[in-house]
Amino acid sequence: MEYKVSFITDFLRNNSSGLYIAIEGIDGSGKTTQAKLLTDFFKEKKHPVVFTHEPTRKGLIGKLIHSVLQAKMNIPSVALQYLFCADRAVHQEQVIVPSLEEGKIVVSDRCFWSAIAYGIADRKSENVANTAEIFTVAQSVLSMYHQFMLPDITFFMDIPLNAAIHRLGDMNKGKEIYEKSDMLHRIKKGYDWMLKEFPKEFVMINGTKSVEEIQIEIRKIVGEKLK
Ligand code: TMP
Repeated sequence: MEYKVSFITDFLRNNSSGLYIAIEGIDGSGKTTQAKLLTDFFKEKKHPVVFTHEPTRKGLIGKLIHSVLQAKMNIPSVALQYLFCADRAVHQEQVIVPSLEEGKIVVSDRCFWSAIAYGIADRKSENVANTAEIFTVAQSVLSMYHQFMLPDITFFMDIPLNAAIHRLGDMNKGKEIYEKSDMLHRIKKGYDWMLKEFPKEFVMINGTKSVEEIQIEIRKIVGEKLK
């Protein structure tokens, strides 16, 4: 049986007074360091700020996800991505939206974009450039009927694959299921596709620069947005 599927979809945007910032990139690209430094900056300025992660660290679903990531239990990759979606839905409703409505800045280490890049990588299809297939993956991975909110600014930490693998080695990481080099290679391709498809949604950051240089650049861009 053949189906012709066609749909128009849009992202859910933030209409409240807070600012939603996400930092994206492959494992080992420096997201967490930058997200924490940005949070500290706002704390020092006494600006209400919330630092958060996807997947979440607390709660039933977040804990389950970490057990799978650390290979303590094994489930099909599609089931794992649905767990990420469930975790994200709870996170959006309980943390992100209420914080934005209170006028806070939300700094998130990853957001729904990760689901697309990692979902594409999970498909293990050689044809990572097949747009129809990727859209189908994106649509299925993102939602059954729930819309996830697009960050006001998404920084993409751009670093070469080898540099990320090297850093993960230095951090004694590389143990989680997505931190193996063949997987990182596929994930990078997933991000490359997204960056090409949605160029306006990302602010590219040269992740090979020093931590300080990157932080200055990020603060400048956020500062412009807050004006
Ligand atoms: P972390 O190491 O940044 O905490 O993220 C955990 C891993 O989960 C990382 O390898 C990226 C992956 N991931 C997905 O596969 N799908 C998702 O939706 C998210 C948010 C993360």
